[in-house]
Amino acid sequence: MNAGQRFARIATDAVVRRPGLWRFFRRPLRSSFDRLAPVWDENRSADAFAPVQAALDALDEAPARVLDIGTGTGAVAALATARFPNADVVGVDVSERMIEQARRKVGARVRFHVADAERLPFADDSFELVTLGNMIPFFDEIERVTAPGGRALFSFSAGESTPIYVPSDTLRRELGGRGFADFAEFSAGRGTSLLATKRP
Ligand SMILES: C[S@@+](CC[C@H](N)C(=O)[O-])C[C@H]1O[C@@H](n2cnc3c(N)ncnc32)[C@H](O)[C@@H]1O
Repeated sequence: MNAGQRFARIATDAVVRRPGLWRFFRRPLRSSFDRLAPVWDENRSADAFAPVQAALDALDEAPARVLDIGTGTGAVAALATARFPNADVVGVDVSERMIEQARRKVGARVRFHVADAERLPFADDSFELVTLGNMIPFFDEIERVTAPGGRALFSFSAGESTPIYVPSDTLRRELGGRGFADFAEFSAGRGTSLLATKRP
């Protein structure tokens, strides 16, 4: 990992343990992703989203509303619209430059907004599917915006080598404590993903 990736890992570990520490990481991480936005897709491996696709394919019920948190250039949101063409898909990111790229690349199929995952601008229970690709999870907000019976999908393109990575036992513990169950894990390409269902 390079220095920026190591910093992202430190931020992930810290914020998962103590979400309030995000206030110290927000500005440097946002600036770093603003800088990376124009070249973000150039460094991506071809199978980066194979674990997202595996989890999406496992969903038998189409969600009406999907939220992709930390959407970056919108790749996971685009996969969600391809898998569920009738769903209303929204992507949010704290980086304005990433959102500009997402709008340019994915276009009007998805509504993209600048927003911080620490405090999402959506009502409780707004989404049947919430996705995070290589993104620091804010578990309280994920729980709040996921509708009862809805799903949360966490994916890491290079498994535990992904700079922003949360081990599955941590995901299970944090989600389990917030009313999620029925965990399913997937491995595809070099990556991993986990699906969880919020109890109805
Ligand atoms: C590693 S990138 C992943 C982007 C995309 N999901 C992908 O896999 O290509 C992480 C993204 O999350 C965004 N991000 C980090 N913390 C965030 C927060 N608190 N709220 C919203 N977006 C955030 C960053 O700006 C960046 O675009």
